[in-house]
Amino acid sequence: MDSLLIKGGAPLCGEVTISGAKNAALPIMAAALLTKEPCVIQGVPDLSDVRFMGQILSWLGAKVRFDAGNVHIEAREVKGAAEYDLVRKMRGSICIMGPLLGRLHKATVSLPGGCVIGARPINLHLKGFEALGARVTIGGGYVRASGRRLTGAPIFLGGRSGSTVLGTANVIMAAALADGVTVIESAACEPEVVDLASFLNAMGARITGAGSPTITITGVKALHGAVHKIIPDRIEAATYAIATAATRGEVTLKSARADHLGAVLDKLREAGVCIETNGAGIKVHRTGKLRPVDITTLPYSGFPTDVQAQMMALMTLTPGISIITERIFESRFMHVSELARLGADIEIEGPSAIVKGGKPLSGAPVMASDLRASAALVVAGLAARGTTTISRVYHVDRGYEDIDGKLRKLGARVERITES
Ligand code: EPU
Repeated sequence: MDSLLIKGGAPLCGEVTISGAKNAALPIMAAALLTKEPCVIQGVPDLSDVRFMGQILSWLGAKVRFDAGNVHIEAREVKGAAEYDLVRKMRGSICIMGPLLGRLHKATVSLPGGCVIGARPINLHLKGFEALGARVTIGGGYVRASGRRLTGAPIFLGGRSGSTVLGTANVIMAAALADGVTVIESAACEPEVVDLASFLNAMGARITGAGSPTITITGVKALHGAVHKIIPDRIEAATYAIATAATRGEVTLKSARADHLGAVLDKLREAGVCIETNGAGIKVHRTGKLRPVDITTLPYSGFPTDVQAQMMALMTLTPGISIITERIFESRFMHVSELARLGADIEIEGPSAIVKGGKPLSGAPVMASDLRASAALVVAGLAARGTTTISRVYHVDRGYEDIDGKLRKLGARVERITES
């Protein structure tokens, strides 16, 4: 298992190119199951989660080939079942269910189960499939959905914490080949949903409204192959922006899209970070003192839960008190106790973390527990005095392409230790 050894204190300076979005790539790769024709997905990040989605698609019968940032997928024949050993490794693999149901009118997928950030239920996905006319049963750890024909319907996808990103993706994909018109109300508005709809429309689907809470899908008889370029990863961009602020650096995030990062850039500006945007990317610069900010995570266009941990790391360096409230995943505070090992003063009260920032952090051995928690440890380690060793780096590698290489190019003293 690899570790990252970070000697903190070096300001990040220069340019970094933001990779394609993991959370757009996963459902878009799954969407290629909806056609027998070849699809090419460009700008796909080289990440363990993406390679894993490739393995799932191969296992289901598709030909999958990765080549220099492109993934070629051809799903001539597809089988409609995915077992526990495939699905348990990545919760995101549930997004194969919509395309399997859409194409084969039946799908059997192992229930993904919970994970360290929360319960991860799929009740809204299943409600959507049922509304389309599928019969859904659960037994032996598997969920089965089948229906001789799927018929478009009105579907409300709002849940306790707002809508569901992969649930919206799953229902759109199942409805793309259904008879008639489906109208999803309270759909997720995330840019990754918009990117999926663009890919499906390029395949011949008829989807309007993606990016708003009402999405209309007019079913078509068949979809064809398409070429599509993935949007840049807004969470990776936010993480580098925060790391730049944490180290008093100056970095241009090439290809980052400011229009996908409104809430994050707004909070960074409020915290005293200088942000300039232009068509080519976003320039982040910090010289002065940081100011504490309060944050509540919300569905898009609110502050993303996937940036909560990294922002908390920044607030530990900021004199004063910030209150960070997590409204999407109930136990997404795994980073708190590890940040405390670096000297952070954080108290959890219900869904909120009270960060008493401003004390300098000092390096220590810490352990990554999930993807974004590990990113927070990287941010803190870059700013801390001395050496931080982050073990279980495979969590970081799930979502950050070549993180140590990119950080080194920006001047960070980061080394990957590979244990044989
Ligand atoms: N929810 C339900 N019922 C459902 C589905 C979700 O109650 O059927 C609840 C969840 O428990 C949660 C909320 O709705 O409280 C939002 O969950 P959502 O379904 O939107 O999450 P997801 O689609 O499973 C994606 C990303 C996550 C990201 C969330 C929220 C992918 C592969 N994953 O998950 O990304 O945190 O949306 O934005 O797209 C990450 O990249 O680190 C990551 C965890």
